[in-house]
Amino acid sequence: MKKILITGASRGIGLELTKQLSTIGHHVYATCRQPNRVNQLNSIKSVSPENIQILKMDVEDETSIEECFRHLECKNEKIDILFNNAGIIDWNDLHEISATSAEKIYKVNLVGSLLVTKYALSILQKSSSPTIINLSSRLGSISLRGETQLGGAIAYQCSKAALNMLTKQSSIDLKSKNIKVISQSPGWVKTEMGGENAKYEVPESVSKIISTLQNLDKIETGSFIGEDGIAIPW
Ligand SMILES: NC(=O)c1ccc[n+]([C@@H]2O[C@H](COP(=O)([O-])OP(=O)(O)OC[C@H]3O[C@@H](n4cnc5c(N)ncnc54)[C@H](OP(=O)(O)O)[C@@H]3O)[C@@H](O)[C@H]2O)c1
Repeated sequence: MKKILITGASRGIGLELTKQLSTIGHHVYATCRQPNRVNQLNSIKSVSPENIQILKMDVEDETSIEECFRHLECKNEKIDILFNNAGIIDWNDLHEISATSAEKIYKVNLVGSLLVTKYALSILQKSSSPTIINLSSRLGSISLRGETQLGGAIAYQCSKAALNMLTKQSSIDLKSKNIKVISQSPGWVKTEMGGENAKYEVPESVSKIISTLQNLDKIETGSFIGEDGIAIPW
């Protein structure tokens, strides 16, 4: 049984990760912006209440991040796996994007993941195999530009490329502490973000991510992998 913290657990991939991981016996700290307005998360928790704790965390708000980890530390909790999952998109391209939108995307997708990682470090070190999984995207691959079906979400793509740098640099910085850091693409998934034409149903993508989790010891720190566990070029 692992203790797993997920950001953005109110819906989409974060919600389904909470459901599947708690069902197979892991303990999930399901964090979200508005714990009093998460009906789907509450009904998942009602199935295995002992395996899920719902906690408030808005990754745009440093105080909220700090308070969440302080609460866990006061309770002497540990975390084995951190999923930096919370994310937002704006499909606008270079011609249409606004500064306000681009800044917000960076704040959630990059700065949020950076700060959550920073405040999680001491509690992660209580684990014998601490791991950070940053939910990235093929849209963040510089090498694949021009080759993938989708593109044009300029601020989102830049934010995920920057998130990949966070993965790589923190994997180097945290190697001596035995903390593994990887970027994981979930594939193109039918969530509010991915839309209804996406390739994967949410449960299918999440079960693939969980299969990867079960083979974590074979994945090198600092890797960027797809939903199939295969490396994606940076
Ligand atoms: N779906 C895809 O095809 C796809 C492909 C590649 C990568 N990804 C990545 O996978 C991750 C999950 O995406 P998804 O498809 O599940 O998206 P989604 O359905 O739109 O859900 C996004 C989640 O992030 C949360 N969130 C947004 N801003 C937040 C904040 N400031 N603080 C805390 N939580 C916040 C949302 O919470 P609220 O309910 O409070 O808004 C929601 O739980 C993202 O990082 C995304 O970039 C998705």
